[in-house]
Amino acid sequence: MINSLSHPAIERNIAMELVRVTEAAAMAAARHLGRGDKNMVDGAAVNAMRNVLGFVRMDGIVVIGEGEKDEAPMLYIGERIGDGSDPKVDIAVDPVDGTTLTARGLPGAISVVALSARGTMHCPRHFVYMDKIVTGAEARDCIDINAPVAENLKNIAQAKKKNISEVTVVVLDRPRHARLLEDIRSAGARVKLISDGDVSASIEAALPDREIDVLMGIGGTPEGVLAAAAIRCIGGGIQCKAWPRDDKERDAALAKGEDLEKVYRAGDMVAGDDVFFAASGVSSGELLKGVHYFSGGAHTQSIAMRCRSGTVRWIDSRHNFQRLDKLSFRETY
Ligand code: FBP
Repeated sequence: MINSLSHPAIERNIAMELVRVTEAAAMAAARHLGRGDKNMVDGAAVNAMRNVLGFVRMDGIVVIGEGEKDEAPMLYIGERIGDGSDPKVDIAVDPVDGTTLTARGLPGAISVVALSARGTMHCPRHFVYMDKIVTGAEARDCIDINAPVAENLKNIAQAKKKNISEVTVVVLDRPRHARLLEDIRSAGARVKLISDGDVSASIEAALPDREIDVLMGIGGTPEGVLAAAAIRCIGGGIQCKAWPRDDKERDAALAKGEDLEKVYRAGDMVAGDDVFFAASGVSSGELLKGVHYFSGGAHTQSIAMRCRSGTVRWIDSRHNFQRLDKLSFRETY
């Protein structure tokens, strides 16, 4: 089978293999839970993630990673990863979304990897932040990032057959969201503020029958692309728009020919049907349980998804460190 971008379809479900990658990163990061050092959290997760990614049968290029090569020695943008065999893929990683959450021992940190056929992942990287709206399948056709907040909430409530007072909006707790919060509250919806972690919150908003109906507000651009990959698999709706922090960022983006008014939908960020997504809980949150250590091992919980089939799996794993020690990829967690 050939997909719309002329790649042979990826027949195997690589998300199942990516779960091992996010499990490893989660276990490495969770060792530093609550120890107050976010760099240590990130470093441990990057190391473990990169190590296990190297064993995956693929010829991958990191499209979203730890930054440019000169600032990140591992998982830098453009790094080749995998064992070098087909399929050729683009990879987005966030070894820990919620490094501060982990460092502070707070809930909701996850480790994330998304993958799609080569050339199908696009990150508008001239902006650090994007404005986002994310919801589930029932309401995906009635959201419009350019519409007033109250109108979006009314439409979402209608599509979900709820009263507005029963609609829950998740928002990153940031001063930049003061006006957004006012608008949501005066429309009569419920608000859930989170201190970090909008990838996991976006997934919560897109999954059916969860407490959260919609995510609104400004968060990281790479996190928007990762969420888009998950939403391609789940079937919800995401719209994002550049949110330049200042005139300098705005002018630089314009000079590069960026369209500041462009609305990025899921397919603009991650195209094609060969999209795979995996995440594992680092600290326990609404979406996933965090790593739980016991004598000689650990439990992890993960989610694995594939766009082509639409299958979303929750995977509970029990890891035996003594046996893993005998395997070559275990040095790092
Ligand atoms: P880190 O794990 O890199 O700290 O990112 C956490 C996060 O909350 C993301 O989920 C979110 O998109 C972004 O930071 C928001 O950025 P900021 O903290 O600068 O508002």
